[in-house]
Amino acid sequence: MLSKTVESALNRQMNRELYSSYLYLSMSAYCESVSMRGSAHWLRLQAEEEKVHGMKFYDYLIEAGGRASMLPIEAPPSEWKSVGDVFDTVLSHEQKVTAMINDLVNLSIAEKDHATNNFLQWFVKEQVEEESNAGDIVSQIRLVGDVPGHLFYLDHHLGKR
Ligand code: FEO
Repeated sequence: MLSKTVESALNRQMNRELYSSYLYLSMSAYCESVSMRGSAHWLRLQAEEEKVHGMKFYDYLIEAGGRASMLPIEAPPSEWKSVGDVFDTVLSHEQKVTAMINDLVNLSIAEKDHATNNFLQWFVKEQVEEESNAGDIVSQIRLVGDVPGHLFYLDHHLGKR
């Protein structure tokens, strides 16, 4: 059985995962608008992954005897300066999500909620991968700089995800 504190925190995190999905879909739409189709494809798949993350919280809340609540999803930004700016934002967003997951783990320890702690370990591992993937793309964009041909090649590569 979940404590009310843990139930609320899990619902907030479900909301943040769904917001992440909305944010990445908005980034995908921006990339489409500047003809960076490969980046748009990568971000669209990332938006789908975030929905799956949100649903993991939904399923766990129910399985653990809690109640899943649909909190309002904040509207994400819709404009970025460049594709580089988009992926810088992806990385900083994922770093924020990691901090949120760590806070949740700390809460599960404080509440002596071992089941929730165990559930969250999947996300602890996932966040290492999420930050690493975003960090790699940020580094690659820095490497190619503003050379349009190189950026086009990188975009093509991201489209193969
Ligand atoms: Fe579900 Fe990318 O954090």
